[in-house]
Amino acid sequence: MAIDRVNTYLDAHRGDFVEQLKALIRIPSVSAQPAHNDDTRRAAEFIRDDLQAMGLQAELIATEGHPIVFAANAPRPGLPTVLIYGHYDVQPPEPLEPWVSPPFEPTERDGNLYARGATDDKGQMFTHLKAAEAWLKGVGELPLNVKFLIEGEEEVGGANLERFVAANRAKLACDYAVISDTSQFAPGMPAITYGLKGLAYFELVVQGARTDLHSGTFGGAVANPCNALATILASLKGADGKIRIPGFYDPVKPLEDWERAEFAKLPFSEAEFQASVGAPSLEGEAGYTTLERKWARPTCDVNGIYGGYQGPGPKTVLPAKAGAKLSFRLVPDQDPQTVAQQFRAHVQSVCPPGVTCEVIVHHGAPAVLVGVDSPGVRAAVRAIEAGFGKAPVFIREGGSIPVVGLLKEQLGVDTLLLGWGQNDDNLHGPNEKFSLADFHRGTKASAHLFAELARADRQVGESEPVGP
Ligand code: BES
Ligand code: MN
Ligand code: MN
Repeated sequence: MAIDRVNTYLDAHRGDFVEQLKALIRIPSVSAQPAHNDDTRRAAEFIRDDLQAMGLQAELIATEGHPIVFAANAPRPGLPTVLIYGHYDVQPPEPLEPWVSPPFEPTERDGNLYARGATDDKGQMFTHLKAAEAWLKGVGELPLNVKFLIEGEEEVGGANLERFVAANRAKLACDYAVISDTSQFAPGMPAITYGLKGLAYFELVVQGARTDLHSGTFGGAVANPCNALATILASLKGADGKIRIPGFYDPVKPLEDWERAEFAKLPFSEAEFQASVGAPSLEGEAGYTTLERKWARPTCDVNGIYGGYQGPGPKTVLPAKAGAKLSFRLVPDQDPQTVAQQFRAHVQSVCPPGVTCEVIVHHGAPAVLVGVDSPGVRAAVRAIEAGFGKAPVFIREGGSIPVVGLLKEQLGVDTLLLGWGQNDDNLHGPNEKFSLADFHRGTKASAHLFAELARADRQVGESEPVGP
């Protein structure tokens, strides 16, 4: 059967796949840093060339920022189409000091590949490329139509992909969308993610006097922006962990009873989770478990604070300006723009006398929930069983992947979120890693997914062997 030839190809090329992934990871495609613009482009070219070499039509699409890679097979009518999204850009590796091995020199330790981008998202995305290659090279053709959409601005919340998708709906039209850019529930417990949080990211700037002043001569008589900032930030949440912005919770979809029951059934230890993050205790919104807080309740976090003297030793100064970057993680059906209006209004209402407060909106994305019962999901369950030897559990995630809402809005398609990562992969942090065993299992699951989606469309009996 065709799938046997695919599996044979996958097994024969495991070592090659890892070497190719390492070569991709060595390209420091840090989308946020202009000094890496050429590297970011090189990563796009690497992926385009790989897609071309396996026999797909692949192109780079220029944007105002980093290019988009698009590839597809010569379409065969009558077959369903799957669109695979991934991102080749990575987060900055800094600070470098905690890295055991350099961030862009992929290094194998204990069965893991350590490097920036190993799990987010180069390693996970690459599984689908290699699955397509296995069909094209091992069998000669894909069992369905495949389109790849691999972007380079996911980590900077760029608007260019949004423009591209809106302007190219026919080119991107598909029956299924697949993204591997999330995590499994635990080692040995693969998962399908059916919910992601949205995001509303702001900068709050508090301005006082025209310049910095002597804190003895002027302190007490002229407002201090750092003090004012602390007052404003302290007003955002109550002791019960509830966000105190009027109207903020109004559109929040409550957790369904079945979800609370399913979350509670998952083998999750609050004590182990606490130990894993090394915090003195866990904290959050009253009335909810840790998994409910992480996955299904909106949050507000300060991501950074600046203002005043930060150098060594004391300096007596009354700073002229202070600021904070903060994010709200949103849940269905909160709207990032409404949250921006509510946040602005709240800041103005609590802005202390003697300073002015300005809110800058950085980026936003809505939360998403996708159906858990569809032919695509059932096909994904079987594919994960084939690749990982275990049926997946259904989870939600606290992270955001803005394109998922976009694909729903523009193409009307629910995304299958098939994450191959682990919770301790440390994406965005130092020593990011990806399990090589999960890399190979993910590749196998993806190869099976193509076959399963090809038949899912025809609603064939579920007990038949896999194969086109
Ligand atoms: N892959 C992550 C999203 C993610 C993180 C999913 C953790 C599941 C678990 C993605 O690359 C990411 O980092 N997204 C950003 C949003 C973006 C607008 C900057 C995020 O969630 O902060
Ligand atoms: Mn990602
Ligand atoms: Mn990321």
